[in-house]
Amino acid sequence: MEASTAEQLKRQAAASALEYVQSGMILGLGTGSTVVHFLDLLGDRIRTGELKNVVGVPTSNRTTSEASQAGIDLIELGDSSRIDLTVDGADEISPDLDLIKGMGGALLREKMVAQSSDRVLIIADDSKAVSRLGTLSPLPIEVIDWGIRGHVQFILNWEGEASVRMRNDGEPFKSDNGNLMLDCRFSDGINEPAQLEAELQARAGVVESGLFLNVADLAILGTHTGPKKVDRKS
Ligand code: 5RP
Repeated sequence: MEASTAEQLKRQAAASALEYVQSGMILGLGTGSTVVHFLDLLGDRIRTGELKNVVGVPTSNRTTSEASQAGIDLIELGDSSRIDLTVDGADEISPDLDLIKGMGGALLREKMVAQSSDRVLIIADDSKAVSRLGTLSPLPIEVIDWGIRGHVQFILNWEGEASVRMRNDGEPFKSDNGNLMLDCRFSDGINEPAQLEAELQARAGVVESGLFLNVADLAILGTHTGPKKVDRKS
C-alpha cells in the first residue's frame, strides 16, 4: 500500500469531521489548507441535499471566498447568538489539546469564533501532534505595528526569538485586520504556555496570541491507519 500524502491525511480528517455536522447547524469555519478540504466536502453534502440549512461563520477573507465557492451560506460573527460547532486546523496540537494556531494569519478571528462556539473540533494531519508546544511551529502573535520592538524584547526574555512575518514580495505580511504578525521561535519549546499566554494578554499592543489553551474539545488527526480522535480529557 502506498503511503498517504499529507493532503490525503488532511482530507481524511476533514471527512471524519463531517460526522459531527447536522442539518440546521451554524458552523464556525476556520482557515487553512485542511479547512479547504472540509469546505469542499461540506459543499458536496449541501449540494446533494444530505445536509440542509447549514450556515457558516468564516474566520478570514480567504475562507469567505472558499466557502462561497463551495456553495455554503455565510453569516457574520454576531448574526447568531451562538455557533454550534467550529471546525478549524492547527499548527501544533499537544496531548491535552492545547494548540498553536495562526500560521495562516487568521488567529484573531479564529479565536473569536472559537470562543463563541459550543464545540471546537480541530482537524489536521498527524504531523501536527507534538508532545510540547513550540517545538514544531513558531508561535504567531498578532500585534499593532507601533512599538513592536518592545514585544521582540519581551519574547527574548522568554528565551525566544521574534521576527516580523514577511510576504514573498518582501513586504510585511498584514492580517485581514491590518496588523503585523510576529513569529516567535523557542529552541526548546515553550516552558509555561499558560503563563506566557497570561502575560501576552496583559500586554498593550498585542492584539492576540496564537496560543489556544483550553479551546479545542476534540481533534481528529489523519493518520496512515485512519482517523484518530483525541478528546479533551477534562
Ligand atoms: C490559520 C491557522 C490554520 O488553522 C493553521 O495554520 C493550519 O493550517 P493548515 O491546515 O494549512 O496546516 O491557524 O490562522
